[in-house]
Amino acid sequence: MTAPSGATRGSWATRAGFLLAAVGSAVGLGNMWRFAYKASEGGGAAFVVVYLLIVALVGVPLMTSEFIVGRLAQESPARAVRRLGGPAWTPLGWLFVFCGVGILAYYSVIAGWTMRYAIDAIRNSIPSDTGAYFAEVSQGPDAALYHLVFMVLTTVVVAGGVKGGLERANLIMMPLLFLILVGLAIWATTLPNGGSGYAYYLRPDPAKIFSADVLTAAAGQSFFSLSLGMGALMTYASYLKSQENLAREALTVALSDFGVAFVAGLIVFPVIFNFGLLDRVGESTVGALFIALPAGFDQLGRTGDYVDTAFFVMLLFAALTSAISLLEVVVAALVDGARMRRRDAAIAAGFAITILGLPAAFNTTFLGNLDAFVGQFLLIVGGLCTAFLVGYRILPQADAELARGLDNVGLRRFWAWLVRYVAPVVLIVVLGFLAKPTWQAVVGLVTYAR
Ligand code: PHE
Repeated sequence: MTAPSGATRGSWATRAGFLLAAVGSAVGLGNMWRFAYKASEGGGAAFVVVYLLIVALVGVPLMTSEFIVGRLAQESPARAVRRLGGPAWTPLGWLFVFCGVGILAYYSVIAGWTMRYAIDAIRNSIPSDTGAYFAEVSQGPDAALYHLVFMVLTTVVVAGGVKGGLERANLIMMPLLFLILVGLAIWATTLPNGGSGYAYYLRPDPAKIFSADVLTAAAGQSFFSLSLGMGALMTYASYLKSQENLAREALTVALSDFGVAFVAGLIVFPVIFNFGLLDRVGESTVGALFIALPAGFDQLGRTGDYVDTAFFVMLLFAALTSAISLLEVVVAALVDGARMRRRDAAIAAGFAITILGLPAAFNTTFLGNLDAFVGQFLLIVGGLCTAFLVGYRILPQADAELARGLDNVGLRRFWAWLVRYVAPVVLIVVLGFLAKPTWQAVVGLVTYAR
């Protein structure tokens, strides 16, 4: 088993290209709604503190591990874990591909709503009754249609290859995303009654710091948001040839991801409070984004027409740059493992995922259950297995790979300690807390509950 040559696999043109793509994968729909929502629910600043601790102690070391395996193996994660770890690790490779398929299947449905909102925002045709509009857009033939269009877009980018597809798309979309984000956050400070929104978002509730719910929510959110546990960043690192310090790259990606999530909250909450729309956020985690926000924008008249366009275009960019990393995991497995041509692999995988996403397009409860099972539970399982693989099975090799860019022995020891002891303990505890809700989600999936 020899690794395929670099010429057929492709590689990044520049370090910035790799970094932007990795940040593009991490920054997605998860940052724009899930973070702010979880924070407001989990004690505001208290959630942020727990979240940052998890990112620092578990997220960054595991992301470093994924980068190490990817660059070391120079092949798709599905094959890399087997070649490095031995045949017993084959199922982990399958798990990665399964997660890529499973997450993209529903992620693309939400991205489809986003695209619909962006198009209607540009045409100034988002109705004032955003609740009814969302109900119409989010389930049924409309949702299926936009899901299909979004999947075609994702497939086209991935078919374009590493430099011509992934790198180029991120190089265009990510800077625009940052620009819009900062612009909107500055605009939000001008809202006359936005102040209580900041307070609601960040009011510290220290009692919640040590609660199991906050720990579980923070862990689940960090894995999803950082694109960890399913080989997405591993795949991106497999196109790296350089000697970069992989721990520093991981820190950069994690900080950028957190920064975007945090700033997104500084937009979402002032708008919601300025217009007194908290009740519209409701039970559903997407309510804030797709019902309350556009209702607020609607009350702004002309300004609102620009602001909602900017907001939903930004959201669409965030979704697309994440979706391509999800599809890339599957495509890389087909290219390296089944020797398919990239274009054929992208079309085959894109088509299959479009079909598999249809149940989620017709049933938002199914979508939520898929998110709970694959987007939360399985990512943590994947992360735990990755920690075991790197920390116990291939540590000397992994350490040597990290040493190519990081010669500080103390820091490498600290990294290994986090991967071997801290990450597994935290993740096993979290999996314990998740057992029951995950079981309920699986039952819901199997029965196609509504
Ligand atoms: N990180 C992305 C987001 O926050 C989602 C994602 C998860 C992408 C896993 C790739 C892998 O939206």
